[in-house]
Amino acid sequence: MGANFEEESLVFNTMTKADGEEVVAFMASHFYPREPLSTGLHMTYEDNKEWIHGSVREWSQSGASVVAREKTSGKIVGTLLATVLTKEQSSTFDEAITSPKIKVKTLHTVLSVLEEAVDFYEQYDVTKILELAMITVSAEYAGRGIGKKLVQIAERNGKELGCELATAQATAIPSQKMLERLGYESQYTMDYESFEIAGERVFDMDRMLGTPSAKVMAKRLVEPGTKSSGDKCSKNPNP
Ligand SMILES: CC(C)(COP(=O)(O)OP(=O)(O)OC[C@H]1O[C@@H](n2cnc3c(N)ncnc32)[C@H](O)[C@@H]1OP(=O)(O)O)[C@@H](O)C(=O)NCCC(=O)NCCS
Repeated sequence: MGANFEEESLVFNTMTKADGEEVVAFMASHFYPREPLSTGLHMTYEDNKEWIHGSVREWSQSGASVVAREKTSGKIVGTLLATVLTKEQSSTFDEAITSPKIKVKTLHTVLSVLEEAVDFYEQYDVTKILELAMITVSAEYAGRGIGKKLVQIAERNGKELGCELATAQATAIPSQKMLERLGYESQYTMDYESFEIAGERVFDMDRMLGTPSAKVMAKRLVEPGTKSSGDKCSKNPNP
């Protein structure tokens, strides 16, 4: 198989703490303006800045997150923030609840509903889960297989960390299609139009970027009964 464009000119690395702030800056420009929950709640990076730095710092040290850069310039073109969850530590968006802003609390509620919608530990009989929390590829590089490669590398990292299942809350059509192509199955659907908090609809449907629903998706990383290769799975293996 011949090397494709991104393999020749890009480098993919497991993220470290040192990448953290640059990753947040990348997401401010390339995630928030293009992700349906953010646009549908009229949210920008500014609205999320109280919690996103801490969460990205934590996710960047999970040992599973991945950053893609141009080889020549070092410029970031894609990021996948992932973490390892267990029954004892089963959610990853808790930081957002500390925000004083109503729309960030709304976002947190939505993410919590999605995160709690399926009991993966019970359903798949697993103990360690790789959660793909946020994925971004810059518009300039979209549609070239970079998102797919970020997920594949995160899955490999997750397996090495002992994870048996990968999960994602796919909030946009491109990420839903991408994960389907990679073998993920949808286990829960949240219809954006009818979703309510305390009897109120929360999303501006004109700004959902054509995506009708969020999907909670999952894929086994190891067959049931098979031991995964990793034995060093923890939330922060390289603090
Ligand atoms: C989601 C995202 C990361 C995809 O990255 P990408 O590098 O463009 O994706 P890829 O080129 O690897 O595409 C992988 C598959 O996804 C599907 N896909 C990608 N973009 C798509 C689109 N706009 N519409 C429909 N399908 C799409 C294709 O089926 C493709 O597989 P194929 O080429 O084998 O058919 C990117 O669109 C993005 O950053 N969006 C903004 C932020 C966001 O919404 N993040 C996800 C939140 S859960």
